[in-house]
Amino acid sequence: MCKKILITGSNGLLGQKLVLALRDNHEVLATSIGACRMNNQSGFAYQNLDITNEQEVRKLVLDFQPDAIINTAAMTNVDACEDDQEECDKLNVYAVQYLADSCAEVGAHIVHISTDFIFDGEDGPYTEEDKANPLCYYGLSKWKSEQILQKHSCDWAVLRTIIVFGTADNLSRGNIVLWGRGALKKGDSLNIIDDQFRSPTLAEDLAQACILAVEKRAKGVYNASGKDFMSILEMVERMADFYGCDKSIINRISTATLNQKAKRPSKTGFILEKSIKELAYQPHSFEEGLAIVEHQILEQENHN
Ligand SMILES: NC(=O)c1ccc[n+]([C@@H]2O[C@H](COP(=O)([O-])OP(=O)(O)OC[C@H]3O[C@@H](n4cnc5c(N)ncnc54)[C@H](OP(=O)(O)O)[C@@H]3O)[C@@H](O)[C@H]2O)c1
Repeated sequence: MCKKILITGSNGLLGQKLVLALRDNHEVLATSIGACRMNNQSGFAYQNLDITNEQEVRKLVLDFQPDAIINTAAMTNVDACEDDQEECDKLNVYAVQYLADSCAEVGAHIVHISTDFIFDGEDGPYTEEDKANPLCYYGLSKWKSEQILQKHSCDWAVLRTIIVFGTADNLSRGNIVLWGRGALKKGDSLNIIDDQFRSPTLAEDLAQACILAVEKRAKGVYNASGKDFMSILEMVERMADFYGCDKSIINRISTATLNQKAKRPSKTGFILEKSIKELAYQPHSFEEGLAIVEHQILEQENHN
């Protein structure tokens, strides 16, 4: 069934994948800060929307009357969130309240994205029921946003994800596969941590999970990460194998040597049983994801 779907943060990695996957079969209103940065802007409408502006959010939602809102907009730089907790709250916490309030007003379903950083990393991989204990402000802000929805009268789904990777048009920030691919192919020496464990997520897989949640009007919390679990070091080594690059340029380091502002959980990862069973979520393997991204990058390069 064709639905009216409002996407926030549509200039971002997940936002762009959602627009691409939804625009043929649904009425899509893509929104983000500033102008639309997607190269092909056919098949959907675009409007500038700062989700921290309560009036703007309410007006747009009342005008468009969406069946669903997918909220991908967020302050995602973990150290910046630690430094500027007020800004982080505006985008990651209060804006979620505005979106949920507007959803309740028009009877729309909201799909919101959360993170593995709500956990302390002592007992991963995690189920949806495990106890949150964020170690950094980014994780806390996302946990606060989940709690807003838990208490809200609107229909909501929270999709928790981990290290999202992929390529899209004119992104404002990179991701592990884009960084790693560039450095490995150049032969730069790389210092990679071996004491954090994650399940990296292909952006298309996360977009698919969001769409399944919209189609089923799913309610509650769902894990939506990749299905492979590995250390960050193994991630980069598997990338080197995939690209046929020399692994001897990869140096093993520990998290402590990085001296980062925000504390990261050591071992996360998700058990995906619930989303596979209830949403029919089917993520790719890490290498399948790398192949999809590689194909897209080569296509982009051929275009230019
Ligand atoms: N990426 C990961 O590894 C990861 C891991 C766990 C969870 N998540 C969650 O997954 C979701 C999607 O992540 P992503 O990787 O697609 O992030 P992203 O690429 O950074 O996209 C977020 C988008 O939101 C836009 N934005 C920033 N402030 C805004 C505002 N006030 N109003 C409206 N839009 C605004 C950004 O605009 P600009 O491009 O102009 O800055 C950006 O295009 C986020 O909720 C994130 O917290 C991501």
